[in-house]
Order: sequence, then C-alpha cells, then structure tokens
Amino acid sequence: MLPDIQLSRRGGVIEFGWGHPDLPLLPVAGMAEAAALALTRDGPHALAYGAEQGPGCLIEQLVTWLARREGVVPRPEQLFITGGVSQALDLLCTLLTRPGDVVLVESPVYHLALRIFRDHGLELAPVTGDADGLRVDALADALDALRRQGRLPRFLYTAPTFGNPTGATMPLARRQVLVALAQANGLTVLEDDVYRELWYDAPAPPSLYSLAPARQRGLAPDGGVIRLGSFSKILAPGLRLGWLLAAPDIVQRCVRSGMLDSGGGVNHFTAHVVAAFMALGLFDPHIEQLRGVYRQRRDALLAALTQYMPAAAAWQTPGGGFFVWVQLPEGCDSAALLPAAEAAGVAYVPGARFCADGGGARHVRLAFSLLRPDELAEGARRLGDVVRGAWCVVRGAWSVERGCL
Ligand SMILES: Cc1ncc(COP(=O)(O)O)c(C=O)c1O
Repeated sequence: MLPDIQLSRRGGVIEFGWGHPDLPLLPVAGMAEAAALALTRDGPHALAYGAEQGPGCLIEQLVTWLARREGVVPRPEQLFITGGVSQALDLLCTLLTRPGDVVLVESPVYHLALRIFRDHGLELAPVTGDADGLRVDALADALDALRRQGRLPRFLYTAPTFGNPTGATMPLARRQVLVALAQANGLTVLEDDVYRELWYDAPAPPSLYSLAPARQRGLAPDGGVIRLGSFSKILAPGLRLGWLLAAPDIVQRCVRSGMLDSGGGVNHFTAHVVAAFMALGLFDPHIEQLRGVYRQRRDALLAALTQYMPAAAAWQTPGGGFFVWVQLPEGCDSAALLPAAEAAGVAYVPGARFCADGGGARHVRLAFSLLRPDELAEGARRLGDVVRGAWCVVRGAWSVERGCL
C-alpha cells in the first residue's frame, strides 16, 4: 500500500528524528465543525478559485489575532496567505533570487529550508550561531566578506525563536542589534517563526518583524523583515497553511506571481476552514492545550537526559518548540554513531545536517513532540548507553595514544 502520511516509524526504534506534531493532538473534531461551518456559511465561495492574497475571512481573523501578539497591528495589505513556511520560502526564492545568487543562512538552522535554497541553485553563506541564536558579529563579518567579493546577499534566513534544531531563542537586545544591522546594510531578513506560540516557560521576545522600523515593515521596497508564520505546528501540518507578514510591495509581488495568477490563492478551502476554526473560538484553547502537553514532554526528556547521558554531554533547556540539541562528549561523531544507535533501538538526526558552516559533527537533534514521557525516558536511556560506550572507546584510544594503558 502506498503511504498516506510522511511520518513512518520503525518497530522497536524510539524515533527522536521526526519533528512532527503528535497525531492524537491534531484537532479532528474541531476541524469537522469548522469545515461544516465554512461550507454552510461561505457556500461555493469556499470552493471557488480564491483571491490571490488569501481569503478575506482568514486575513481578517489573522489581523486581529496577530495584533494581540505582535506588538504592532498589521494592516491587511501586509499579510499574504501561504501554503506554510516551506511554500513561502520557495515562492520568495522564485521572486527574490536567481540561480547562483548568494544567501546568508544561520548555522545551525532548519535543514530542509537549506534544501529549498539549494533547489533554487543558491549559494549558502553560513552565519554561525551560539546559545542565543545567530551571532550578530558573525553576520557583520559575513556581510563584509561578501562586500569585499563585490557580492550582495539576497536575504538572510534565520529562525530566532525556539529554533530548529537548537531550541535557542535570540534575546531582545540581540534582536535589536540584528534589525539595525540589517537596516544599515539594506539586507532582507526572512524570519522563520513557526514555533513562536509553543512556549513553555515564558512568551517569546518580540519578533524581528515587530522590532523593525515602520519604514521596513510597511514601505521599504528592499531590506526589511519578512516574517513567516505557519499553522503546521499549532494546528495541523496537513492543512499546508501559513502566512507571511511583509511590506505591501512584497505582498504584491507574491500576489502577482504567475503561480497565484494561474491557480488563485493558496489552499483556499483550507484557509476558509481555519478562519471558521478561529471564528468558533477554538484556536487559542487548542494552542494552550498543546503547550501543556509539549511542556511535559520537554521536561520528561530533559530529566531523562540528566539521568542517562554521560556528564561530558551538554545541552540547553529549550524555552519552547520541539527540540533539544545535545552536544556529545569530545571525540564522538553523531553521524558515525547513528547505525549503532539504531541497532540499540533509538534514532536521531545528526547535527551536521543543520550546519552550512561545517559544524555540528558532535551534536544530535532530539525531537520530543511525538513521544510519550515513558518513551522519552527509554529513548534517552538507550542513547545514553550508546554514547557512553562510544565515549569509552574514544577515551581508550586517547589513553593508548598517550601511553596511559
Ligand atoms: C523552523 C521550521 N520552519 C519551517 C518548517 C516547516 O513549516 P511548514 O510546515 O509551515 O512548511 C519546520 C518544520 O519542521 C521548521 O521546523
């Protein structure tokens, strides 16, 4: 039988690799109610070719919803409905870049965004991050280096809030410096903000978009921040629905693209259903429920890592999102270790896949969103055993090298 969904799980293996929302948490009953409302209320309008910018019913809901969160009230002409962040990135690459162009990418960052950029023939210039997200001094250096080569990056891609894979969040002060640096250099910033609502300790700092001067948010043809939101993690990824907040001229460039002209607004029916879901008052309570469940899973994984990983491994507490980024002890290579881990019944994504700067060899990304607390504990135990075993070998080799054995 052909697969129905992307997610696949191997029997006997605890899969830390998939950063997907958990299936039992997808709001099936609420969506059924919302779909019925959309069809009775909007009739054939819900099933027609949609307005290129996205249906007014969803844009209106989003303006109100975002105004409560962004600190700035978006105007409808600053919003464009997308097929999720992935489609938005693909469309922006089509509109803003040509093959051979260079783009700046945070490192580490969401590895599948890098795939989309590579699909467009773009050259990736990495900007290294630390525990607080992308390093602004590294961005300044990267801009200087490109300027010396006479090259202009088309944009910077960053996920500054509960990022994938690190879970790191850029503090407010660094956000302000980043926005100022981008402004001074006429650099367009693509802010991938899919995890913003999934905070477990305290709400996220203001988005880069909201910190940008009004000129950059609303008017400037070049530079400025384009904020990418998605319903994938906070509602359901199968909806293939998200939004983009940007200067109206960027929205207009999206609206006027050939794909939208031919096909109309992206995922028009789904957008009607989500607008109805929001109108029914189901959205915020649903997100609140997700926070509760995922917070418990994050805490279960952190507690199990503390119990089972060797002391020489290290990680940070992610304030939100789906991931813990674990640094293995010195000498361990996460890609080389994966077959042994899988044989022991645990899987993860090796860190190098997220790093355009050649780093990440000692890191693993663990996703906790799909696993129950008991599975998280057992997975951490298995991983701890594998890492401890590998580390003993590494230390043994050192000891032999240094004549200690
Ligand atoms: C940082 C980040 N951006 C984007 C996506 C994909 O978003 P969407 O489903 O809206 O295309 C993911 C999914 O894992 C992600 O982690």
